[in-house]
This record gives sequence, C-alpha cells and structure tokens, in this order.
Amino acid sequence: MSASPQESARKKITVPALARMKSAGEKITALTAYDYCSAFAASEAGIEILLVGDSLGMVIQGHDSSLPVTIEDTAYHVRCARRGNRGALLMADLPFMSYYTESHSLENAAVLMREGAQMVKLEGGAWLAETTARLSQRGIPVCAHLGLTPQSINHLGGYRVQGRDPAQGKAIVDEAKVLQEAGASLILVECVPVALGAQLAKELEVPVIGIGAGGETDGQILVWHDLLGLYPGKTAKFVKNFLEGNPGGVQGAIAAYRDAVKRGKFPAAEHCY
Ligand code: KIV
Repeated sequence: MSASPQESARKKITVPALARMKSAGEKITALTAYDYCSAFAASEAGIEILLVGDSLGMVIQGHDSSLPVTIEDTAYHVRCARRGNRGALLMADLPFMSYYTESHSLENAAVLMREGAQMVKLEGGAWLAETTARLSQRGIPVCAHLGLTPQSINHLGGYRVQGRDPAQGKAIVDEAKVLQEAGASLILVECVPVALGAQLAKELEVPVIGIGAGGETDGQILVWHDLLGLYPGKTAKFVKNFLEGNPGGVQGAIAAYRDAVKRGKFPAAEHCY
C-alpha cells in the first residue's frame, strides 16, 4: 500500500470516499486540528479527517476534562480550522450537553455545519439512535463515539480501557450496530482491546476509526498535541510522539504518522490493550 502524502493531498475527502477506502482496505488517517495552521499542515500532508475535538478543553484551554467546552468554543475553532483545511473531511465534536434533546442536537449541529463542519461527532450508545437518525436524515453526517467516552468521565471514574469484559464488549458492538442502522456514517472507538476494535471493523459496514483500539480498525486518529509531544499531562499508552527524533519537524511528524498508519505500523503492540 502506498504511503506517499502526495497520493491524496488536496483531494477532497467525502463520506462516500471514506466508505470506498474501507472497501478497498486503505487505512484512513485522522488528526485533531483546532486552528488554521494545524488544519493546513494536516490536510496538506494528506490526512483524510480533521477533528475539531472537544479535547480542545484540555489541550487548548487547559481544563482537566472536556466538560467545560461550549458550542461557541467549538464553533470558533471550526471556523479557524476550516480556513486552513485543504480538502480533508472536517468533523466537529458536539460538546458536553449540547445534544441532550433532539432539538438541541439539531440546532447545535447546524451551528457547526454553518461554520464549515462536514460531520458531527456524538459520544454515547444506543440512546443516541433517534438523534443520529434525525441528524442524518436532515443532511448532517454523524460519527458515533463509543468505548471510552470522555464526556462521561464522572461515570467512568477515569480514562480507563472499556470493553474488557465480554458482556461489555458485546454491548459496545451491539450499540455500534444500532447507531449504524440509525444512520451513523462513521464509528470512532476509543480505548478498547485490540480484538474488540478488530471485531467492530469486521462486523460494521461503515468505517471504524480507532484511538487506543488496536491496529485492525479501518483507520486511526490522534490528538495533534500528542502527535507532537506537546501536552504536559500524563499521556496514554496508545500515544506516540512522532516529532521526537524526526528531522522533518512538524511536517515530518505528520507524514511519519500518516505513513505508519497506512502501512499498518502504527499502532504497534506497545500502543495496544
Ligand atoms: O476530542 C477529541 O480529540 C477526541 C479524540 C480522542 C478522538 O474525541
């Protein structure tokens, strides 16, 4: 499989294009981006999905969770990232409590789409089926975020691996299927055992993007600040600093990440659960 950044740089990535990549067995690369320069650098390097993640609460705003992030904060960062984007699919997180009713989710998703998002991401399981269907039916592509869902940190009690217990793993697969059926175009699964990431990618028709979910998902996502080793807090096992020892600087680090994902070299065993 080719890993040349030129192969898809500036090619406009769409929802059907991601589905085609899954069918063709080409790994999908994704990276968070919160501003003009990060969006420009990542999309120029051929990263297919940019996420304006609510991780911005931690890496941009310095909070200890994503909970303080508002729809206004997210809209601002979507606006900045959109100006830098050169053809990647721009996805944005619906922040904590911005989708607690269907009408809230529609209004808030519309805010982000008007700013330039092309897909919204929601954290949660089957309880989001109706919301997913309504968004999708109204022209808003949805990514469902399962596994470790940081907006529920106060329930989970910490940033821990999810789905280790077979019953919990089955529940994650079942919920992903419900959300796919409801219209989700993408599934993002965070911090689950390798076998569960692999099962999701095998059993779902839509692409499954993993973070801390092993190397057998259809693609990978990393947080920009983790890729570059910028976050001063504790980093998770699944994180790799691609800047360290890379003579190519930031551009080199993004290219190395993309190349490693495309070739199936990242994540390696040491990044997996
Ligand atoms: O907000 C975010 O950056 C995310 C990633 C962990 C995928 O959801």
